[in-house]
Amino acid sequence: MESNTITITLQLNGSEKQFSVDEEETLLEVIRNRAGLTGTKRGCDSGECGACTVLLDGRPVNSCCVLAVQADGCQVETIEGLGQKSAPHPLQEAFRDAGAIQCGFCTPGMVLTAKALLDKNPDPSREEIREALSGNLCRCTGYAKIEEAVLLGAERLKTAGQAAKGGNRHENL
Ligand code: FES
Ligand code: FES
Repeated sequence: MESNTITITLQLNGSEKQFSVDEEETLLEVIRNRAGLTGTKRGCDSGECGACTVLLDGRPVNSCCVLAVQADGCQVETIEGLGQKSAPHPLQEAFRDAGAIQCGFCTPGMVLTAKALLDKNPDPSREEIREALSGNLCRCTGYAKIEEAVLLGAERLKTAGQAAKGGNRHENL
């Protein structure tokens, strides 16, 4: 049976991009194969591991389980949009500094899931972190260092936020 090609528009890491996609193509396939953003990993390809997590309108989703056409018109954030090697996001630095990265395969998904949590809840408990990351599997580290990394990232983001507010107060004087 022939499948249809459909043009979709994504706000991908802040830039509007159009893709001609097969109606059965997943968002993961578009991100990796068409946009070339290979930081998003293909693990189980069946919604079990969270390696393919991206933020869809700010919510973490398993991109292997979302059809590209379902994301038409949405904001999609991948790990490349969060930070680069030359300018990492504080959460990426926290994962590095807390020793929460071994092979790194799960890390992009973990970091994006943690980012979505901290956007909603800047001061999460360990229990809340565990709950938020329950769909993201890591075969290497165990989860203690990952929880530490999220706590450290939360701390640093709060400090950075306070510093920015302090800066604004100065500007307003
Ligand atoms: S690759 Fe999507 S959940 Fe595992
Ligand atoms: S660091 Fe290897 S799977 Fe998590």
